[in-house]
Amino acid sequence: MRNISEDTITQAVLASISGCKDDRLRTIMTSLVQHLHAFTRDVKLTEDEWFKAIQFLTNVGHITDDKRQEFILLSDTLGLSMLVTTQNNKKPATCTESTVFGPFFVEGAPEYHNGDDISNGAKGAPCFVRGRVTDMAGQPVAHAQLDVWQSDDEGFYDVQTQSGTGEAHEHRARGRLRTLEDGSFHFRSILAVAYPIPHDGPVGQMLEALGRHPWRPAHLHFMIEAPGYERLITHVFRDGDQYLDSDAVFGVRSTLIAEWVRHDAGAAPDGTQMNTPFYTLDYDFVLNPETVTEVAHA
Ligand code: BEZ
Ligand code: FE
Repeated sequence: MRNISEDTITQAVLASISGCKDDRLRTIMTSLVQHLHAFTRDVKLTEDEWFKAIQFLTNVGHITDDKRQEFILLSDTLGLSMLVTTQNNKKPATCTESTVFGPFFVEGAPEYHNGDDISNGAKGAPCFVRGRVTDMAGQPVAHAQLDVWQSDDEGFYDVQTQSGTGEAHEHRARGRLRTLEDGSFHFRSILAVAYPIPHDGPVGQMLEALGRHPWRPAHLHFMIEAPGYERLITHVFRDGDQYLDSDAVFGVRSTLIAEWVRHDAGAAPDGTQMNTPFYTLDYDFVLNPETVTEVAHA
């Protein structure tokens, strides 16, 4: 293979991977090379621009560690995460829609009982969250596992404020609980607020160069799992937020927007006498049944 030209380079690379025994890998890499070359021709990429791209990706790698995932932020802000989410989570319209997972989920969050306060000291206006988990026929899904996580009133997740302190991680405004027999759940937390995604790195520079802001509308993350149902990864967004139509990661679905209702000081839904204003959020989730894969028996 010699004297490869601008016109023959794509075919030469494709031929070099045509013998790959892993069908899926060959399919993916063939398409990737075709699209990458087509893009390079389309924009007539210069050597200088190519080198800047290499430097950019190098910087994305350098800032990434176990607490900061700049590659996920890059995928999120380019709409790739949401595209992967939507094309892999097609379901009947009555089911709760999925949205991006985001980089702030933490394994091993504390387990709570219904009625507990999951804020664990995170600052914010008190918020009482209630809802039900059902199937498509409205039947309760009992003992479904709910993981919940959110930022504090300054827009920071516990992992962001505690990274680099050298101390053991303390879980704040995140936890796991289970639905009751009637599919209901309720817990206390804090009011969700809008926050900017981490933008002090290469992805932030990219957003600025493109004239984009880094903000996400206020939301509460949920991951719901129950035997016999597809895992649901989603958020509930706060109605009225100024960033609902310009989410930096393209995750908003109209069906996921709900009203956080403000109440003056007084009796909370659980009977607690609140001496400051508080909020309530009611939201129900509908799970999609797992598709059963037929296994052929010999
Ligand atoms: C989040 O909602 O936690 C999130 C999602 C994508 C990028 C950054 C944060
Ligand atoms: Fe979030």
